[in-house]
Amino acid sequence: MERKGCDPGFPATAVLGIESSCDETAAAILAPDGTILAERVLSQIADHAAFGGVVPEIAARAHLLALDAMVKDALREAGLGFGGLAAIAATAGPGLIGGLLVGTGYAKGAAIAARVPYLAINHLEAHALTARLPGMAASRPAFPYLLLLLSGGHSQCVAVEGVGRYRLLGATLDDAVGEAFDKTAKLLGLPYPGGPALEACAREGVPNIPLPRPLLHRAGCDFSFSGLKTAVAQLLAAEPPGALPRQRAADIAASFQAAVTDILGDRLSHALAMCPAASSIVIAGGVAANTAIRARLAEVAAAAGKALIAPPLRLCTDNAVMAAWAGIERLAAGFTSPISAPCKPRWPLDAL
Ligand code: KG4
Ligand code: ZN
Repeated sequence: MERKGCDPGFPATAVLGIESSCDETAAAILAPDGTILAERVLSQIADHAAFGGVVPEIAARAHLLALDAMVKDALREAGLGFGGLAAIAATAGPGLIGGLLVGTGYAKGAAIAARVPYLAINHLEAHALTARLPGMAASRPAFPYLLLLLSGGHSQCVAVEGVGRYRLLGATLDDAVGEAFDKTAKLLGLPYPGGPALEACAREGVPNIPLPRPLLHRAGCDFSFSGLKTAVAQLLAAEPPGALPRQRAADIAASFQAAVTDILGDRLSHALAMCPAASSIVIAGGVAANTAIRARLAEVAAAAGKALIAPPLRLCTDNAVMAAWAGIERLAAGFTSPISAPCKPRWPLDAL
């Protein structure tokens, strides 16, 4: 491995980010102003598809197999060696412990060898700060802003008040919204990952089946999705024996998606009431890819006179650009992490 100063002509200012908290292995290199010099993401969907969900041990091994070559490939594209790096940031939680150990272990080793600071990144903070990357909005969103994080592992409304300063306004009481999509898709016999498959199926259907909308109009902005999923399970159990007709599956998918859309729109309007000073609304997580959900959240934002910032999908889902950018934001705010910083499978944002 090259040492700091071994890359003549390149100032050591770039930051390497590593993401390995779930089923994407990712590495990215950013200039200090957030310009993306190189980014790589390897999805493990094919490794887990046969099991219908992420298998932690398979995920950890897959990260281990891919990461080193991926980082070196990204460095090559950026025209840098390890010596061209000013810091190395890696997701240290929340997430699956095996993958976190692979990513942070690699980052720590490289940071020691390159003699640069290490930054242990909170994955949720990385999602929260992505909207401040150059080019995500007409102007960089000012603090405070609202983050609606809608992924397979998390559903949260957060007031982002500054780097390292987060106020949790609401979160799921049971399943994450992406998890609800995945489980419902599985009930309907759709392939993994269920979210995109369910959205495609819903496009052929009519939302004409009454389904519950847990917590709708309740105070606060917590979410609950398990009752909705159970209602779909009960509906399917009452179907006549035999294969579910395609149109019936599409109507159920459309009805489920309409219920989730209503819930999210309602929760966002409550979150806005809880944080009236929010400069804008940022959405992140794989479910933010859903066209119907995006459209409803845009309507709620427009009615409140706020901009809705939806980073491009590749930066909404898990990636390493966001880890590197969170590292840059933390460095600018004066934070670094000790090499002894642990991985934290559970690491709520408001504990930062
Ligand atoms: O943020 P993400 O890539 O990974 C984490 O969970 O951290 O989100 C993946 C989740 C999965 O549950 C997937 O089914 C869901 O996002 N998802 C969708 C769509 N695309 C991905 N859900 C609904 N509609 C979609 N188009
Ligand atoms: Zn994520």
